[in-house]
Amino acid sequence: MDIRIGVVGFGTIGSGVVDLVAKNSKVIFEKTGINLIIHAVADLDFSSDRGVNLDGIKKYTDGIELVNDSDIDIVIELVGGIDYPLKLVKESLKKSRHIVSANKALFAKSGPEIYTLAAEKGLAVGIEASVAGGIPIIKSIKEALVGNNIQEIRGIINGTSNYIMTKMTEEGKTFDEALKKAQELGLAEADPTLDVNGGDASHKIAILAALAFNTPVLMSNVYVEGIDRINLNDVKYAEELGYVVKLIAIAKDRGKDGIEARVHPMLVPMDNQLAGIRNEFNAVFVRSDYLGDAMFTGRGAGSFPTASAVVADIVDIGIKMRDHVKIAPFISPGSKERNFIPFGDTQNRYYLHFTTADKLGVLSKITGILGDHRISIASVIQKESDDQSSVPLLMMTHEAKESDIVSAVDQINSMTEISKKTVIIRAL
Ligand code: HSE
Repeated sequence: MDIRIGVVGFGTIGSGVVDLVAKNSKVIFEKTGINLIIHAVADLDFSSDRGVNLDGIKKYTDGIELVNDSDIDIVIELVGGIDYPLKLVKESLKKSRHIVSANKALFAKSGPEIYTLAAEKGLAVGIEASVAGGIPIIKSIKEALVGNNIQEIRGIINGTSNYIMTKMTEEGKTFDEALKKAQELGLAEADPTLDVNGGDASHKIAILAALAFNTPVLMSNVYVEGIDRINLNDVKYAEELGYVVKLIAIAKDRGKDGIEARVHPMLVPMDNQLAGIRNEFNAVFVRSDYLGDAMFTGRGAGSFPTASAVVADIVDIGIKMRDHVKIAPFISPGSKERNFIPFGDTQNRYYLHFTTADKLGVLSKITGILGDHRISIASVIQKESDDQSSVPLLMMTHEAKESDIVSAVDQINSMTEISKKTVIIRAL
């Protein structure tokens, strides 16, 4: 059966989709009987060479015009941003076109509204490409793990941050050098702010948490901190202590207490599987009651991996269209609102980097304040320095409560011997 698709957004992913269909449509047809045809592509500008041939494909400069093209079965939204893509998606559903999108910001924020509109019209919404690039994590959670209660998802789900941290750790590159390279490789968002401030990963963990725990997730319930404040010194100190620094996203079901959802840099022990996930690779660790622990890994960003996930959704929808299968709502109609746990109530181990005067009694003052806040120290290293007015003092704590750490460190920061704001990085 022929399935005609219209691609809105002819950038990194859009050109990857056109390339994949040109090269692999024969094998897709042989495996599934679905003949994918790129009917049209929309973009504001076609002047730059994207390395793919658009001969025989209609070109639109307005995505809404593409949506109105009645020959199209599935609209592929690859624009980025929120307002215009939302308009485009709503218009597509109004015109009874199925939707495939890689837009995590849009679906983290407006997913429930879009899923409801699609369900009302019996249309499909495919967003596999929105989380962890080419890794089939959405399909795995929705389908392969449907028989399980999911207890925790933990992972590296922003390729750009992971690329930057890898280059800083392994090659001593500066943050700016590594980010520039990630942009050249087509890993970063058009505006990389969301990659480095944790925003992109927070959208992805919100989507995964909603699916895993069958509950709506407001972005205000997801704590976010990015890698933009990580200093090369701390990367080196972490390495000396046996850790690598990674941007980690966590969604945890804590039963009656509620759900924890957060994204922040973490020290990951070198022998942990996540420590070995390098460059733009992503990894999602899922703990569930019957399967137990499972980890999904692969390329989490870039043109081809993301195109792979987009095409998987297209073919899936194509098969349902051909077989006249009733499309199930993307989120179960029985989903219930769960409580979310404030970030201050979460528990972690911590790496603390104090910058302090090397003077009699300072260490005991610091440990005294930590003790008063129920924080137990696991290890301490003071680096020798010629400048005794300002030396690095590094501590690893045992598990402690986030709000206790914050108040203890606030009090320590106000000590006259402390010359710089203390660095706090959570540890896995
Ligand atoms: N900018 C994103 C990342 C692309 O680096 O992970 C994939 O969503």
